[in-house]
Amino acid sequence: MSGSNPINSGVVDPLVESALAGIAAAADLASLLAARSSLIGEASEISQLNASIKNMPNEFKAEAGALLGAARGKLNGAFAARETELAAIAEAAALAAEAVDVTAWASHAPVGARHPLSLMQDQISDIFIGMGWEIAEGPEVESEWFNFDALNFDADHPARAMQDTFFVEPADAHLVLRTHTSPVQVRSMLEREVPIYVLCPGRVYRTDELDETHTPVFHQVEGLAVDKGLTMADLRGTLEHFARLMFGSEAKIRLRPNYFPFTEPSAELDIWHTAAKGGPRWIEWGGCGMVNPNVLRSAGIDPEVYSGFAFGMGIERTLMFRNGVLDMHDMVESDIRFSQQFGVTL
Ligand code: DAH
Repeated sequence: MSGSNPINSGVVDPLVESALAGIAAAADLASLLAARSSLIGEASEISQLNASIKNMPNEFKAEAGALLGAARGKLNGAFAARETELAAIAEAAALAAEAVDVTAWASHAPVGARHPLSLMQDQISDIFIGMGWEIAEGPEVESEWFNFDALNFDADHPARAMQDTFFVEPADAHLVLRTHTSPVQVRSMLEREVPIYVLCPGRVYRTDELDETHTPVFHQVEGLAVDKGLTMADLRGTLEHFARLMFGSEAKIRLRPNYFPFTEPSAELDIWHTAAKGGPRWIEWGGCGMVNPNVLRSAGIDPEVYSGFAFGMGIERTLMFRNGVLDMHDMVESDIRFSQQFGVTL
């Protein structure tokens, strides 16, 4: 024996400790695998020491081989254990990232609701389109001539007065916010060829204060038919059909004599309201009549050859008594909870 073995536990143990520390320090699988060769592979100090055994004096080889073999075994075991541990951590993290929380609140995209006035306007339009009528439109800022003169209103008719009509400045432009949809009658007669069957839904304005039953901005629907040989019977039949589709097959209508400058004769249209508060009763629904020959003439139609009938009613008012809406404020405030009661037809 010549001295002590140069590969002894005093040399090997610190190398093992530092490699074990390196294995423990790898924070994730990728860095552990990247360090494999320097920790336990060819490039590690233990491996290099192992390779040097063959150059040692023979008497040291067995002891050094046993010592290094045990050290390598320990390091390989530690490496494999850390690898398993880090792989498990990586898998757990991946599962956590992919997890679906079935108890989480669903993200809620609110769906709007169409306003019942628009729905009713569409429903009325559909009823008349079903009878072959066309939809006509006109401007809301209307000339005084269409809104009043052409409809046979006298120059001093009270409806023109300041307290009913919004006049648009400058006064000499003679523009108003239309007070009814009837001017679309005249526009339709000027723009279209007879026979004419048009329905004109739209927004109208009057200088009313907003309260439970009034609003300064509201909606009407106007009907106009001009053809050869039309009579009150055609008007009545059309309104009865309309009423049945709006209020149910049991609906009844009644015409009472009235006055409008643009119709002659004129009538008030009542509907038998079965669901009225306090029991069934007649309720005023709109106005109607045979188109006044003066109106036909102002639109260039010969009243000797053609006759016409017309009608008009408020959409807010119709919604109020058909659906039991008691307060006009509900219709103008645009609270979605009000609209949703009428269905979310989009
Ligand atoms: N324009 C009238 C109003 O606003 C309603 C009306 C009555 C329309 C009789 C008509 C009609 O077409 O014939 O009060």
